[in-house]
Amino acid sequence: MAVILSKKSPSAAEKDLNSIRKGRDLSFFDLVSIDQVTPEDLGLLYDVARRFREYKTYKFSFNKGSSQVNAFFEPSTRTSSSFDLAAKQLSMDTAGVSSNSSVEKGESYLDTVQTIDSYNVKTIVIRSKESGVPAVAARYTQASIINAGDGWHEHPTQALLDGLTMLDHCKSKDMKGRVVVIVGDIMHSRVFGSLVRLLKTLKAEVRISAPLTLIPEDVEKFGVKWYGKVEEALTGADVVYALRVQSERGANGFIPTLREYSKMFGISRKRLDLAKKDAILMHPGPVIRDIDVHSALAAVDEQSYILRQVENGMAVRKALLWLIVDRIDGKKKTFTRK
Ligand code: CP
Repeated sequence: MAVILSKKSPSAAEKDLNSIRKGRDLSFFDLVSIDQVTPEDLGLLYDVARRFREYKTYKFSFNKGSSQVNAFFEPSTRTSSSFDLAAKQLSMDTAGVSSNSSVEKGESYLDTVQTIDSYNVKTIVIRSKESGVPAVAARYTQASIINAGDGWHEHPTQALLDGLTMLDHCKSKDMKGRVVVIVGDIMHSRVFGSLVRLLKTLKAEVRISAPLTLIPEDVEKFGVKWYGKVEEALTGADVVYALRVQSERGANGFIPTLREYSKMFGISRKRLDLAKKDAILMHPGPVIRDIDVHSALAAVDEQSYILRQVENGMAVRKALLWLIVDRIDGKKKTFTRK
């Protein structure tokens, strides 16, 4: 579905966004897990994000006077650049802290986050190799903490943008009756951790396919079904969602070789053709071409929605930052500093 860009004046666009919002607020101050997002939050975020997508060339003054620190203690391209640009397009001041910070000299994450918090910033976006860093940070800061991916745990804004991409493709308010197949390194994937929870809320049928060694033991609790043969999983799918083999988290120790993995589970043209004719191919990125997805499909194929996911990431993150910073209800975060 092509997005038609708006030609409204900036002030008319601001008025329109305020009217779409209709006096609604998010129910959370920090976003650590997708479980915090209620169906009402989801409706609000998606209504606003769809509008921001139409206004993607606009700069808004909504968050003027507020600051954000992007604390990325692990590499990132999509999440870090979109959070930074989203904040700037809402007129926020931004600063970045990376793994090349005093954490390298032995300073704890908590001391680092509290240092940033003393600038009185409104939002701190955190990416960490370890699970749980954003959850702990949220307990000790007045700023809103946004989890930009923590260890093997969760990546809630990735799930939000993926949900928007799927719903828009299906032109529906939920994914009832739709089949989503997640193929790849489920075990080490924080993207899976958030997406599977959201897909449950959206009522999708979720199939997973990977070598058994890359499947966590208790995965059935999410109501998903495992397929050892990817061809069986893909048959009749509406969405094919490929995940990277996460070598930096030790995934190579769970498969014979990457070449073998690609042969058995890589998404090729032939395999994608087993899905429905109008099925879409998604991937959170970074794509390891010819391992998780065959190169010819990765970015240019008309069924590939990988760059559309990136575009939706900007819109969703802008919606989140506007709504988190500009609370109509005037409530402030309460936190438990010790
Ligand atoms: N999807 C995702 O988190 O990508 P980055 O690591 O590039 O941010």
